[in-house]
Amino acid sequence: MASSLIISVILGVLWATILLSSATTVTAAYPSPLEAEAIALLESRWWSNHSSNTSQRCQWPGITCNTAESITQINLSDAPNIEVGDRFGKLNFSSFPNLVLLNLSDHQLRGKIPHQIGDLSALKYLDLSYCGLSGELPPSLGKLTQLEFLDISYNDNINGSIPPQLGNLENLVTLNLSQCGIVGPVPSALGQLINLQSLILSGNQINGSIPLEIGYLRNLTYLSLSSNRIVGPIPSALGQLTSLQSLILWGNQINGSIPLEIGHLRNLTYLDLYNNRLGLIPITLYQLTNLEILYLDYNQLQGSIPQDIENLENLKLLFLTNNSFIGHIPLALCHLTKLEYISLSQNSLSGSIPSCIGSLSKMQYLILGSNLLKGPIPQEICNLANLTSLALSQNKLSGSIPSCVGSLSKMRYLSLDSNLLKGSIPKDIGKLFDLSYLNLSFNQLSGPIPILYATDLYIVDAGNGCNKISPDPFEGNSDLSPYMCPTPVTKKANSSRIPYYIKIFLPIAILFTFSILGCLLFSRFKLKNNHVSVQPTKNGDLCSIWNYDGKIAYEDIVAATEDFDFRYCIGVGGYGSVYKAKLPCGKVVALKKLHHLEAENPTFDKSFRNEIKFLSEIRHRNIVKLHGFCLHRRSMFLIYEYMEKGSLFCNLRDEVNAVEMDWTRRVEIIKGIAHALSYLHHDCCPPIVHRDISSNNVLLNSSFEAFVADFGTARMLDLDSSNQTIIVGTCGYVAPELAYTMIVTEKCDVYSFGVVALETLMGKHPEEVLSWLSSPTSLVNMKLVDVLDNRLPLPTSQLVTQNLVHVATLAFACLNPQTKSRPTMKEVCEEFLSRHTSLGIPLRMISLLQLMNREMHIGGKTKTCDV
Ligand SMILES: *[C@@H]1O[C@H](CO)[C@@H](O)[C@H](O)[C@H]1NC(C)=O
Ligand SMILES: *[C@@H]1O[C@H](CO)[C@@H](O)[C@H](O)[C@H]1NC(C)=O
Ligand SMILES: *[C@@H]1O[C@H](CO)[C@@H](O)[C@H](O)[C@H]1NC(C)=O
Ligand SMILES: *[C@@H]1O[C@H](CO)[C@@H](O)[C@H](O)[C@H]1NC(C)=O
Ligand SMILES: *[C@@H]1O[C@H](CO)[C@@H](O)[C@H](O)[C@H]1NC(C)=O
Ligand SMILES: *[C@@H]1O[C@H](CO)[C@@H](O)[C@H](O)[C@H]1NC(C)=O
Ligand SMILES: *[C@@H]1O[C@H](CO)[C@@H](O)[C@H](O)[C@H]1NC(C)=O
Ligand SMILES: *[C@@H]1O[C@H](CO)[C@@H](O)[C@H](O)[C@H]1NC(C)=O
Ligand SMILES: *[C@@H]1O[C@H](CO)[C@@H](O)[C@H](O)[C@H]1NC(C)=O
Ligand SMILES: *[C@@H]1O[C@H](CO)[C@@H](O)[C@H](O)[C@H]1NC(C)=O
Ligand SMILES: *[C@@H]1O[C@H](CO)[C@@H](O)[C@H](O)[C@H]1NC(C)=O
Repeated sequence: MASSLIISVILGVLWATILLSSATTVTAAYPSPLEAEAIALLESRWWSNHSSNTSQRCQWPGITCNTAESITQINLSDAPNIEVGDRFGKLNFSSFPNLVLLNLSDHQLRGKIPHQIGDLSALKYLDLSYCGLSGELPPSLGKLTQLEFLDISYNDNINGSIPPQLGNLENLVTLNLSQCGIVGPVPSALGQLINLQSLILSGNQINGSIPLEIGYLRNLTYLSLSSNRIVGPIPSALGQLTSLQSLILWGNQINGSIPLEIGHLRNLTYLDLYNNRLGLIPITLYQLTNLEILYLDYNQLQGSIPQDIENLENLKLLFLTNNSFIGHIPLALCHLTKLEYISLSQNSLSGSIPSCIGSLSKMQYLILGSNLLKGPIPQEICNLANLTSLALSQNKLSGSIPSCVGSLSKMRYLSLDSNLLKGSIPKDIGKLFDLSYLNLSFNQLSGPIPILYATDLYIVDAGNGCNKISPDPFEGNSDLSPYMCPTPVTKKANSSRIPYYIKIFLPIAILFTFSILGCLLFSRFKLKNNHVSVQPTKNGDLCSIWNYDGKIAYEDIVAATEDFDFRYCIGVGGYGSVYKAKLPCGKVVALKKLHHLEAENPTFDKSFRNEIKFLSEIRHRNIVKLHGFCLHRRSMFLIYEYMEKGSLFCNLRDEVNAVEMDWTRRVEIIKGIAHALSYLHHDCCPPIVHRDISSNNVLLNSSFEAFVADFGTARMLDLDSSNQTIIVGTCGYVAPELAYTMIVTEKCDVYSFGVVALETLMGKHPEEVLSWLSSPTSLVNMKLVDVLDNRLPLPTSQLVTQNLVHVATLAFACLNPQTKSRPTMKEVCEEFLSRHTSLGIPLRMISLLQLMNREMHIGGKTKTCDV
């Protein structure tokens, strides 16, 4: 053993010496093929941080050689530290005659794909996904005739069209060019790729119609052209693709009827034609007995849902939302016992809800809203024990809400609004703990409103320490007793008001559920993974995380939060609930789950992604980093940096933390918020108005440093509207002028900042002080020390005192009712930098009026900066 080691070491030394000398001194002679590989590796400098000793190149990370020591694979999958950067083109591709695999996925490669890549004559697998590439796809890719696998997906900045030369790659089995920024048509030359099994061109700007030649790809099992600009009809030639299992064409402008020939695709399990302009469904569609997932939503489909639908006995998901279907909900639907998700909403369906629907025991999601349905809500709905979403709103349903609805304990989304429902609200609805959306408005309900214990309901601060659910789930029911304003403010306060039996019952139930479900859950995840290919993947299942090594899927998020168990919920705010999640790699993040079932809005997807990409690029020391997002069919998440201490609001209300936040820390917190806002207003292009600055949206890390959160969410969720339409923001923080101007400007943030700054100094919301501002004379006798947080001793240091007074003065300036007289955030930050001389009068003597009149404003008159 030892001797062979020594020999090999000696050989290595010899070899290296030969190599070095040949590389340096004998440059004129042709290097041998092996030497050429070594030189090419060295010159590429991809491994320059790792080693320059090429004699061991076969052991370099990511490199695999054959027995003759020639390189066959460069697979950087497990070599995250190898940086290629702008050196992609530095590799001399013609030096690798045996290279079969090149995988640079997830490595940043700036710039274009070099056209010399066509020199890798033996290449079979090329994976350049997630590489940040730009420019056009080089036609020389067509020279890689051995290629079986080509993946250039998720390189958003690639432009130009698909080179027809790709039609030469006749060994190709997989072609994935999704999310590449490709323009132009699908070249008909792709019809020559007769061995192709997967063709994925989704998420580009491909235009023109689907070429007939696609019909030649007889081995195709997976075809996705979704989210492009494809026009014209679905060619009947697609009926020849008899191996097809998934056909995904959503998000285009495809029109006409679905061709009769679709009936030939007997192996089809997944058909997604969502958001096109299709007009008619041929009866042959109902012969596709293997179909498991069928999305036909957001088209212009007409006619009724035929009895033949009963043939689709494997169907799990049926979405016919937003079409022009008429007639009754067929009883035949009740034969589809595997159904888990149905949405027939936004059609013109009439008649009643068949009571046999209660036999579809796997049902989780039943959406029948915005139709013309009449009659009662059948009691049998309560047999659907796994139901999580029930939406029957905007119909003409009558009768009462079945009292058993409160027993559907998995319910998260319940909307029965805008019907003709009478009678009382079942008391047990209050015990649907998972509820995150409830709407019973605009009915004829009467009697008392039950106490709601769900922790996920979107609660807003209505001022006066009073919170209410927004939008009000009960409005428009004239006979309901007035809603008792529930007092819980934070979840902590909340829990103390929960009756004792729930306090006892809940932990036991949780423990019990988890011990039993532990293994069940495990097996379920395994099951899911086996069925990955049929998971819904439209504007669902799309996760993007920047600044994070490794990929994440919706399943990871579900696993990390145990399916959004409320134990992981760390807060509820505008737009959604926040969860703490530990990702598979160990990184802890905060997940904000947005209340937005309508994530299906077709225009939403792209603009949402652009917006979020923009927001994720914002970097500031006092802004919570947005790591990415995850759009899933049923929910949206924003993924943020996790902040250990939670919100400023909660910390100010926590007796221990409030004391730990001494005056110096509080002043720093206020400065931090100001810097963040100044950055958003003045250094971002376009400028960002936060719109919802409140102590809930300022988060603190473990050392009580402030980070502004939730910026831009308003805009992101409301991309079409200008600044002038929607008002968001938390009561008690919104600038007074918004009540009549409806125009959101930076100055609104300035006002909210003033409120938060005062709140930080006072330890509670400055409600009272704000009300005095309108009649300043009442402030004459009010001393600053009277309003400062009395849990902290007054500062003893002169410097701290100065800072405190300075910050308080600026806070009052920001609260000026005259929008124009408020400083900009930039001016506020400049004030922080100005030097202050010592105070003329002792802290105890300073009145609020003096602060307001800026008499205590030591740094001189406010500079009017041109901004
Ligand atoms: C390269 O590695 C071999 C084997 O470990 C070693 O013997 C040799 O000295 C190294 N060459 C250089 C230039 O470091
Ligand atoms: C590339 O490396 C990764 C991680 O080691 C591995 O999963 C993958 O199978 C490799 N690719 C090939 C073609 O061997
Ligand atoms: C390339 O690497 C990625 C991970 O970086 C891996 O997921 C993928 O399977 C690899 N592709 C090939 C063809 O080996
Ligand atoms: C590689 O070296 C460069 C320059 O010496 C350095 O900037 C870079 O951070 C290094 N990368 C790694 C992964 O060590
Ligand atoms: C690339 O390698 C080939 C063969 O090894 C060689 O003939 C050619 O000169 C090299 N090109 C460059 C630019 O170094
Ligand atoms: C394509 O991308 C390249 C590189 O980013 C850029 O220089 C070029 O202007 C782009 N072309 C078009 C038409 O956008
Ligand atoms: C591209 O599609 C192929 C075939 O479905 C798949 O194996 C590969 O993982 C996809 N690439 C990415 C980055 O998702
Ligand atoms: C497709 O898009 C390209 C580039 O945007 C454009 O030049 C071309 O005219 C478009 N073709 C059709 C048929 O719309
Ligand atoms: C399709 O696949 C089969 C079996 O995998 C193979 O024999 C055949 O050559 C492939 N190509 C065509 C055009 O059928
Ligand atoms: C359809 O699927 C079955 C079972 O997976 C398979 O045996 C059959 O060959 C497939 N049909 C076609 C046309 O690919
Ligand atoms: C309801 O869901 C649970 C857990 O997800 C599952 O085990 C059970 O089989 C489901 N019930 C039905 C009838 O599908």
